[in-house]
Amino acid sequence: MRKCAHRLTSIFFCCIICSEGLKNVINVSLTDTNDIENKDKLKKGGTMNLLKKPLKKLGQFLSDRKYKRFYDAFFALADKSKTHATFSKRIYGKDLCQHGMMDMAQLTKLLEVLNLQENNRVLELGCGNGFITEYISDVTGAHITGVDYSKTAIKNAVERTKDKKEKLSFLCQDIKKMDFSAGTFDAVIVIDTLHFVDNIDKMVKKMKNSLKPNGQMGIFFTQRIFSDDLKDWLQPDNTQLAQSLKKYNLNFKTWDFTKEEAEQWRKKLQVLEELKPEFEAEGNLLLFKLRYNEANFIAPNEHRRSRFLYHVLAM
Ligand SMILES: C[S@@+](CC[C@H](N)C(=O)[O-])C[C@H]1O[C@@H](n2cnc3c(N)ncnc32)[C@H](O)[C@@H]1O
Repeated sequence: MRKCAHRLTSIFFCCIICSEGLKNVINVSLTDTNDIENKDKLKKGGTMNLLKKPLKKLGQFLSDRKYKRFYDAFFALADKSKTHATFSKRIYGKDLCQHGMMDMAQLTKLLEVLNLQENNRVLELGCGNGFITEYISDVTGAHITGVDYSKTAIKNAVERTKDKKEKLSFLCQDIKKMDFSAGTFDAVIVIDTLHFVDNIDKMVKKMKNSLKPNGQMGIFFTQRIFSDDLKDWLQPDNTQLAQSLKKYNLNFKTWDFTKEEAEQWRKKLQVLEELKPEFEAEGNLLLFKLRYNEANFIAPNEHRRSRFLYHVLAM
């Protein structure tokens, strides 16, 4: 049930990032999702049960391909757009080409709880084009390896930070397929990326193994649900991430940013409407639509979401 619902979460998220202009890039319709979301159909099984495994694999393959294309397109446009930089500054407090929900207040909290040191080795999963990675390294002096499967994002990150090779390295890899070296990192950071992974248990196990003794993790995780029956998942110690952490005996502390996230989606809509003429004048209406459609879809569902920072300590 948990796995099935998480799969639906991934498919749902794929749908919300569709935008008119990117229909060729990401071609999933809401009707597809509604069909798949029909829990009864899935429960009744029959042919569906027999096909579950291959369908799951195929679904994962297709959604990965679409996400990758989506993020290649997003980072190619956002990296060069002045209006997008203005948008980021107004929403997050600083332009780090963010595509998640972590603003500067949340980033400050993350840095406070991790208290990274200059000699620390850090792994960041889903680093996008590495602006956040670079900022964290600049502020703390830590060595960070950023991983993302968007070729465009990693190419931009590598080019921009070529003079900081001593502190920063970037890898273009799928974190689901990647084996992280065991006992290597003092900290693992994951910002708004774990919901792309269909098997969070497996990812948490890999992250845990990659840590040195007494290593730590800082994870921003938004739990989404599609039915009020699953409301208990919204509790910080019962999200899909919390369940996985408990499974591997990992102790954690949480900070609640649910209210902040809800406010942020509303603000995103308002700021985007104000900036629409600028996006248009820049020839970047596609980027506008991409962000607007996503915010417009997500903003109304705040009662089915919760957001937490997890600070995890490995023994
Ligand atoms: C919502 S964005 C968050 C980006 C950045 N962490 C931030 O907060 O702005 C998710 C990022 O995860 C990356 N990503 C998603 N699934 C991935 C996977 N399986 N392997 C590597 N990167 C992945 C995407 O390319 C994208 O850059």
